[in-house]
Amino acid sequence: MGRVAVVTGASSGIGAEIARLLGGRGDLCILLARRADRLEALAEEIGGDAEPCDVSDRAAVDAVAARILERHPAIDVLVNNAGIPGRTSFVHGDPEVIERLIRINYLGAVWCLRAFLPGLRAAAPSDVVNIVSVSGVVAGPPSGPYSASKHAQLAFSRTAAAELRGEGIRVHTVKPGFTETEGFPQSWLPRRVQRVVIGPKEVASHVLRSLEEGRGETTVPWYYGPVAPLQDAMPNVFTRVLARLPKAL
Ligand SMILES: NC(=O)c1ccc[n+]([C@@H]2O[C@H](COP(=O)([O-])OP(=O)(O)OC[C@H]3O[C@@H](n4cnc5c(N)ncnc54)[C@H](OP(=O)(O)O)[C@@H]3O)[C@@H](O)[C@H]2O)c1
Repeated sequence: MGRVAVVTGASSGIGAEIARLLGGRGDLCILLARRADRLEALAEEIGGDAEPCDVSDRAAVDAVAARILERHPAIDVLVNNAGIPGRTSFVHGDPEVIERLIRINYLGAVWCLRAFLPGLRAAAPSDVVNIVSVSGVVAGPPSGPYSASKHAQLAFSRTAAAELRGEGIRVHTVKPGFTETEGFPQSWLPRRVQRVVIGPKEVASHVLRSLEEGRGETTVPWYYGPVAPLQDAMPNVFTRVLARLPKAL
């Protein structure tokens, strides 16, 4: 019997590409996001199931997971990918946006893991992939509240990896850098930074390799790796540089 994979945020970008690759290797993909029409189109394309759901709504996540687990008691792969951008300020940004970032980007992944855990346990050895971000290890304007949500998601992912290891549930933390997608258009970046922008297919291929090789926590592309230790080693230098960034960024 083929593997069953649940992919959140599968209606566009990185999640849709991950679902295409998982579907291509023969997994039955169950696609979660809010836009039902997009999910249904992708489900038809790859032979999966569409399950519209807002991952920030804990009751809705529990209900959709219960429905899915009834049909598929064993879940081999859960990809926590759903997320929203947030180029806003802690100081004068909309408080609603600051809260929404935490509810979707961080808590959404927590609720999905908890809701699908019986299925992951039944399928063990099984895999969870958390799509975090380089912003989970580096912080500064213009996306402080987004970065805070991704720092929280990173703490969740690293902790879950240790908590679930003994049960045969491998948690992979994937930290992509700037990736051109519908929700995260990168045209705002200065021209000289544009060359580091990658596409969602590249992130998806990285995720599939991580699953196949059991890589754990990784950064894609690799060259963002040294940025976090640099900010840790010289936080005050970073603060001075970030303070001088043009406000338009
Ligand atoms: N693009 C980048 O530069 C970049 C870099 C690092 C990390 N990431 C992370 O990668 C993940 C995917 O982002 P992307 O770049 O592929 O952006 P995207 O194309 O905008 O995809 C985001 C996905 O999340 C879904 N989503 C948003 N809010 C949701 C909610 N409340 N409930 C369920 N699904 C929800 C969206 O679907 P609906 O709108 O249909 O719900 C969509 O399918 C995010 O976690 C993001 O933080 C992106």
